[in-house]
Amino acid sequence: MSTAPDRYAVAGNPVAHSRSPHIHSLFAQQTGQSVDYGRLLCPLDGFTPEVKAFAASGAKGCNVTVPFKFEAFELATRRSPRAELAQASNTLRFDEGGWLADNTDGVGLVRDITVNAGVPLVGRRVLLLGAGGASAGVLGPLIEARPAEIVMANRTVEKAEAIVARHADWAAQHGVKLSARGLSDAGTGFDVFINGTAASLAGSGVPVGPEVLKAGSLALDMMYGPAAQAFLDWARSHGAVARDGLGMLVEQAAESFALWRGVRPDTTPVLAEMRALVDAASAR
Ligand code: ATR
Repeated sequence: MSTAPDRYAVAGNPVAHSRSPHIHSLFAQQTGQSVDYGRLLCPLDGFTPEVKAFAASGAKGCNVTVPFKFEAFELATRRSPRAELAQASNTLRFDEGGWLADNTDGVGLVRDITVNAGVPLVGRRVLLLGAGGASAGVLGPLIEARPAEIVMANRTVEKAEAIVARHADWAAQHGVKLSARGLSDAGTGFDVFINGTAASLAGSGVPVGPEVLKAGSLALDMMYGPAAQAFLDWARSHGAVARDGLGMLVEQAAESFALWRGVRPDTTPVLAEMRALVDAASAR
């Protein structure tokens, strides 16, 4: 007798173009897990009732995307340490004893940099641009990767200062020099430059100068597809190794899948398949 698959979804607004259902169906096929992963479009003022109804219908968990990651964090009764640091959650597990909120964005980013791109972070200097949800969500795991230094630079420096203050103990525990700066004094010659701002989406270009790079730096935009193109072109034209956020997307999904299912999929073939899809879509 076959039983119905366990249900999950990505909850957000918008979610129509999310690649997560495809990624999770590839993971399920590969690992032989009985999983049905869909999309949950939530009204901007109706995330909580929508997700509660989804859980009440028997679903096991969900990913959460823009703009609900902060609300998801508030909804849970238990939170992983990395979700606590981020104050935001991209992964909920609907446990019977109370919902668990995790945040897999940062660990996904670190894994994409160190494993997929093969760039070590230990002892390196890292510039993290932006102080919105995307950048705040990855700072804790970046610190855990033990670079020598992380500079968080943002247009509104007070926002970066608040996030840096929240991570100060974590940075000290890991021996990482952590500071907040404005865009005009972000610094120079970083080994790794991560763009977590919405600046490329707004079409306003990269809001820092090429002096933040040096020959062979890794420059990574958390976006992918057309939204990342201007940043990638800029990075390449200044001698950096450019990388988009597709690897991070696949890796954060794998961490969520592992949290829910207890098995971590092999991301290499899945990233290759998603890369081909995204490239084909961009070429159209
Ligand atoms: P998200 O949750 O996706 O990170 P967000 O919270 O709106 O989105 O944050 C967007 C980030 O991009 C912020 O760091 C923002 O800078 P401010 O904090 O000063 O608003 C940054 N950003 C957006 N447009 C920008 C631009 N044109 N130049 C520089 N930074 C920009």
